[in-house]
Amino acid sequence: MSEHTAQRRVAAVTGAAQGLGAEIAVRLAADGFDLVLLDLRADSLDKTRAEVEAAGARAVTIAADLSQEEAVSTAFAHIEERYGRLDALVNTAGGSGTDVVRSLSDISADIWRKVLDNNLTSAFLCARHAVELMQRHGYGRIVNFSSAVAHGKAGPSGTVGARLPYAASKAAINGFTKQLAKDLGYTGITVNAVAPGLIVPAVGRIRDVFEALPAEAQQATRDAIPAGRTGTGAEIAAAVAYLVSEEAGFTTGAILAVDGAES
Ligand SMILES: NC(=O)c1ccc[n+]([C@@H]2O[C@H](COP(=O)([O-])OP(=O)(O)OC[C@H]3O[C@@H](n4cnc5c(N)ncnc54)[C@H](O)[C@@H]3O)[C@@H](O)[C@H]2O)c1
Repeated sequence: MSEHTAQRRVAAVTGAAQGLGAEIAVRLAADGFDLVLLDLRADSLDKTRAEVEAAGARAVTIAADLSQEEAVSTAFAHIEERYGRLDALVNTAGGSGTDVVRSLSDISADIWRKVLDNNLTSAFLCARHAVELMQRHGYGRIVNFSSAVAHGKAGPSGTVGARLPYAASKAAINGFTKQLAKDLGYTGITVNAVAPGLIVPAVGRIRDVFEALPAEAQQATRDAIPAGRTGTGAEIAAAVAYLVSEEAGFTTGAILAVDGAES
């Protein structure tokens, strides 16, 4: 067993209060990681913590707006104090937000910045701090969250409200991932992204939004996906579990589509 696996490894998962982040955290707990669970929403983080602890992991929750530099500094100081190490960072926090804007003229600069901040700035700030901790033992795994929508998508916006800034933020995540992977190439830290298509997690906001669509709209959405169905949170968590594993060491700078061939 190598140095960094001699004790339980530590993974920080952002956006862990619900949806994909929560399912990823529980999967990583089952795979032997202790967890740091981060999200804006303090209330639901406790639910994820209970599930992670039931899977046998230690867990700490941190409620913070991860697009804010000071909040991220404080969060990572807490991680350092609590565990003294970080092996994996999964930047799941993001989404298109709750503003349903369908035309260009509806997109204010505030909405634009908020979507970019939640998806892109949060990933950058967390990665910057994570790399500092990871470099101490010359090992790390960073997984960012892109989307099939990074390639643009035609038709009504469905589950993705502010689709234009959202697509721009996820395309930027692809560039961020590829550049950071090259910058850190020699350090033992890998940087990859998962690019989901439409995933209906076990619980969470996207499940609620999808289930609120009329049955015909739900079916039309499934029909537009070559696989003929939406994906599951477990399928996303499995992709993340691979990318944070020790054996994925030569996979870096990859954008892994998990989208039923949608993109
Ligand atoms: N579900 C899908 O179909 C799908 C498809 C493609 C990509 N994605 C991406 O996967 C990730 C997770 O999606 P989900 O379906 O679980 O969405 P979700 O809305 O259920 O969960 C996202 C979580 O991120 C948190 N968050 C957002 N901004 C934050 C911030 N600034 N600071 C801290 N926390 C913040 C939210 O509070 C929320 O709990 C997102 O990045 C999303 O864009 C999802």
